[in-house]
Amino acid sequence: MAWHARNIMSLHKPVRIAAHLIRLDGYLDDACSYATRPGADRQRAAEVQSVPQRDAFLAARKLLLKLLAAQLGCPPAAVPICRGPHGKPRLAFGNTEFSLSHRDRWCAVALSADAPVGIDVEPIRTLPGMTEVVAEFFPLAARAAFASAPPEEQEIVFFRWWTRIEAAVKVSGRGLDAALSCFNDVTCQSFEAVPGLAVAVAAEGEGPLIVDWQVDRNLSWLEPEPRRLYVASSRLVCQKTG
Ligand SMILES: CC(C)(COP(=O)(O)OP(=O)(O)OC[C@H]1O[C@@H](n2cnc3c(N)ncnc32)[C@H](O)[C@@H]1OP(=O)(O)O)[C@@H](O)C(=O)NCCC(=O)NCCS
Repeated sequence: MAWHARNIMSLHKPVRIAAHLIRLDGYLDDACSYATRPGADRQRAAEVQSVPQRDAFLAARKLLLKLLAAQLGCPPAAVPICRGPHGKPRLAFGNTEFSLSHRDRWCAVALSADAPVGIDVEPIRTLPGMTEVVAEFFPLAARAAFASAPPEEQEIVFFRWWTRIEAAVKVSGRGLDAALSCFNDVTCQSFEAVPGLAVAVAAEGEGPLIVDWQVDRNLSWLEPEPRRLYVASSRLVCQKTG
């Protein structure tokens, strides 16, 4: 195993990724700061009917701009985001690749200078029609894992692979049409340290991935008394599987 790991490390250039997993509660807008948001964000926000989803979109965008601004050394308002042909956001210049996902009040951001990346976060939950989704979108390896999961683990296995598929699909930006072949020339890593949450990151190439996971969880949403920010971090290294 150790020999195998060293051998792969020597064949392929590692892809380093900073992955942030953050509760959005601390980034929600007040009416005042909403007015100062970039026009494109306000236009997108206006199209979102559900208020919680609109708030989450704006909060995730604010967080993304902060992280990219720190990387680029410019103010958040000057971060030059544009979109590719299928809507994949990217920087207009520079070599920083990024990906964003937000679901409920969780947001995940991946940043890398080494390769195009994708990230996805989903709460693990009961979902009607899992079997149909598996049959339509899951590549062979994911189908096999779902089929062999015991009934009490089916939701976990489903969302583990769903997030890997979404993350892999976001690497190329081609959308779910590419789901069945999404693991070709893509390496994925799951992060399962937060109970009830499935998170995966993916990058172009054969890996290995070296991912610095930063979990920034404001516990005030869990407890009546506001608590100080809890920050956990871990570095995981993985190689391409399947
Ligand atoms: C748009 C899509 C890339 C991800 O959507 P999602 O999982 O619903 O939402 P996420 O929050 O994880 O990702 C949305 C973010 O991805 C980014 N994104 C949008 N289009 C993208 C593309 N073509 N490629 C990469 N990233 C993209 C944007 O940053 C977007 O954030 P924004 O809406 O705040 O601008 C696409 O995969 C999709 O339509 N998914 C539908 C969900 C589904 O049916 N999944 C089944 C999986 S088996």
